[in-house]
Amino acid sequence: MSESVVTETVAAGVVQITMNRPDRKNALDRASYAGLIAALAAADADETIRAIVLTGAGGCFTSGNDIRDFAAAAASGDGARIAIDFLTAISSTAKPILAAVEGFAVGIGTTMLLHCDLAFAGAGATFRMPFVTLGLCPEGGSSYLLPLIAGQKVAAELLMLGEAFDAPAALDAGLLNRVVPEGTALEHALARAKTLAALPPQSVALTKMLLKKGTRTATAETIAEEARHFGERLRSPEAMAAFAAFLKK
Ligand code: COA
Repeated sequence: MSESVVTETVAAGVVQITMNRPDRKNALDRASYAGLIAALAAADADETIRAIVLTGAGGCFTSGNDIRDFAAAAASGDGARIAIDFLTAISSTAKPILAAVEGFAVGIGTTMLLHCDLAFAGAGATFRMPFVTLGLCPEGGSSYLLPLIAGQKVAAELLMLGEAFDAPAALDAGLLNRVVPEGTALEHALARAKTLAALPPQSVALTKMLLKKGTRTATAETIAEEARHFGERLRSPEAMAAFAAFLKK
């Protein structure tokens, strides 16, 4: 069985973390979250690593939380604990994280970009935060961070309507640094990661820490508050009906 998260050192000081369930559009199940959490912690602890590139296999970033796991978590009363643990990990990783997005970035696939330092997307990428559509609510600090970077109206449109939006719209919303030709997001992210890896590492880490300082506490509080509501919403009749409809397809 292939690993759902693959970690490899791809250049001096650069680790690439790849979400790897291409037959499920890299949907994140419990094993994927555990793999991502471990990979981020290992990168942060490894003195030779200076930049982290996060991407997805098979021309897709990720279709978000595995909906089978959502349904199982609702039944077990476990909520989305491990997803929240991953969001806490990615929002507090000390080293720079660069996202390379192609294909779909759905749900947590979009909200995790709020915690990446740099993000590049191929021109064909599609983004979506269908939390309301699924009977859920925003997660990952998105109800705080998205209005901050995109403005209240854009954030309300993207989070309340939950419709898909394209790479230029994601750029306008502040989720990306650049839209690049389709199929080249990883190449761009790796190039920037190599540049970062060659810079003085303590200065890079300090700059990241200072950039996040103003929003750190509010982000952590929002992730926790959203998680409480999210756990309740997972068990709601609205969410159960949405999961059943997806799984019946
Ligand atoms: N959880 C579980 N399985 C998923 C999944 C998810 N989040 N996303 C995709 N899959 C599965 C599909 O059920 C399908 O399985 P099958 O081959 O057994 O039928 C397979 O992955 C391929 O997906 P498919 O829907 O055929 O690909 P597509 O290119 O037509 O559409 C998406 C891709 C991402 C638009 C679509 O799969 C989708 O909307 N997925 C759900 C996204 C979502 O709501 N995530 C949760 C956000 S909170």
